[in-house]
Amino acid sequence: MSYAAITGWGKCMPPAILSNADLATFLDTTDDWIVSRTGMRERRISHVPATDMAAVASARALACAGLAAGDLQLIVYGSCSYDEQVPNSASGVQVILGAHNAGAMDVNTACTSFLYGLSSATALIRTGVVKNALVIGVELISPYMDWDNRNVSVLFGDGAAAVVLQASDEKLGVLAEHLGCYADARQTLRVRGMGCAYANRGVRYGDTRWDFDGQEIFKKAVKGMCQASDIALQKAGLTPTDIDLLVPHQANLRIIESVAKYAKIPMEKAVLTVERYGNMSAATVPVALVEALEEGRVKPGATLLTPGFGGGLTLCSHVIRWGSRVTPLGASSVDLPPLTTTALELVNGYRAERARRSESEAGLQAPVFAEAAARPPASAA
Ligand code: UT7
Repeated sequence: MSYAAITGWGKCMPPAILSNADLATFLDTTDDWIVSRTGMRERRISHVPATDMAAVASARALACAGLAAGDLQLIVYGSCSYDEQVPNSASGVQVILGAHNAGAMDVNTACTSFLYGLSSATALIRTGVVKNALVIGVELISPYMDWDNRNVSVLFGDGAAAVVLQASDEKLGVLAEHLGCYADARQTLRVRGMGCAYANRGVRYGDTRWDFDGQEIFKKAVKGMCQASDIALQKAGLTPTDIDLLVPHQANLRIIESVAKYAKIPMEKAVLTVERYGNMSAATVPVALVEALEEGRVKPGATLLTPGFGGGLTLCSHVIRWGSRVTPLGASSVDLPPLTTTALELVNGYRAERARRSESEAGLQAPVFAEAAARPPASAA
């Protein structure tokens, strides 16, 4: 059985920066609170659709691998942000890339979507179904963020990255992983207002209410990422001392520090983007991986550990072995269209639209939101 080596990588970070000071212009919050509780100083707000960010990251990953789009056999779009429910988003990226010979699927496990997608694509390569795959981690949260809820709106940002996997006889790529889910606690992280439960029931799309039990999620995130890493390392026959680089999900600097401490992996080995990008959900791990490569932190033959956690509450950790090449074979000239507005203007546009609707449609959504909140978690949308 062959392995699935990572041979290409690329990211696409939208240029508009939303700082903690920007957030404090409309929220009862401070730079000090956000930095001390989360480690975040700024995040990015996209001025383009999610598939456009994903396509730029993907074109860069394909160029890096030296793989023509027409030779691609599978596209996995890992995300909980879809431009549309149907058709799927992977097919949208496929059209932009011109990857006419690829299969295309979306994977949604919230913040772990890229990592679950990596497992899916790796398994399909290892079993010979496809010879290569593009795995994308992308998130466009800003349009459906409840911006006036400080419990969540300071935490998240937009971004995208992608990797190319290719069949290899060498023992490379994902060596072992553990996938899990604390489903009993799924209601602790929930975006109400999007999904069939709300369709044609008086809720305007994107007019969301976020349920977010931060402390509970925090505890479960640390536990889940630690347990998943233990199991993945055990399956790979390795110990934490074998890990050269920790590339964790970036939901909170304190979570990363706790996971590193538990695993006895020094923080110098951790790749951190949380300060500059916040929590980009599915995009955090691949963006951190791409930046580690750009900074020369991934050495030939390196062993990486990538613990992740997200809505569901899904959890996972992957042990990844890098190949001999740590530099791109080529570069792509594609880029996002120029920015014509600031991040704060984009956010204030979303806020104004929500305010306008809630004034003109006061009370319209209340019954269906109350009903959804009361519904037992097991049958919730
Ligand atoms: O990627 C998906 C996984 N997500 C996560 O893993 C996130 C996990 N949770 C967390 O990272 C943390 O729980 C948070 C960063 C969300 C919150 O930090 P915390 O230390 O757990 O704070 P807290 O929720 O206990 O709130 C402490 C205080 C409260 O005030 P009182 O009740 O002590 O007066 C909050 O109302 O901080 C207040 N607060 C804020 N103050 C200023 C909550 N949000 C803010 C804010 N600015 N943005």
